Amino acid sequence: SEDDVVNITYITRDGSHKKIRGKVGDNVMYLAHRYDIEVEGACEASLACCTCHVYVDESFYDKLPEPKEEEEDMLDLAPVLKPNSRLSCQIILNKELEGITVTLPRITRNFYVDGHKPEPH
Ligand code: FES
Repeated sequence: SEDDVVNITYITRDGSHKKIRGKVGDNVMYLAHRYDIEVEGACEASLACCTCHVYVDESFYDKLPEPKEEEEDMLDLAPVLKPNSRLSCQIILNKELEGITVTLPRITRNFYVDGHKPEPH
C-alpha cells in the first residue's frame, strides 16, 4: 500500500540522481538491482565483500542501526572509506528512511574474504 512506500534517491557514478520508490522491508542493494542501478553486491549480501559500498546522506546516517562487526570489517577494505560509508546490502528500508539519498562511490573493489570469486550463478 501507499503507507509502505519509501522514496529513495541513488546518486550514480555519473552524478545523476535516480529517484526510486521502494517499500518498507526492501533491501537497498537489491532495490537498486531491480532498477538497473550499478551497485555491485558481489557476495549476495553475505558480508563477504565490500562492493555494495555506498555513502549515506549525513542526515539519515544516524537513523540506521549500527553496523555489525562483520560490516565494519568489510568496510575497512573499501576504497575511499568515509564516515558515512555503509554496505547497502545491510540497509533495510523503514518509514524513518523516507527521502534517503545514497551515493555510489567512484571505485569499488571486487574483494572476497577468502580471496576467491564465487562461482557465477
Ligand atoms: Fe557483499 Fe554487501 S553484497 S557485503
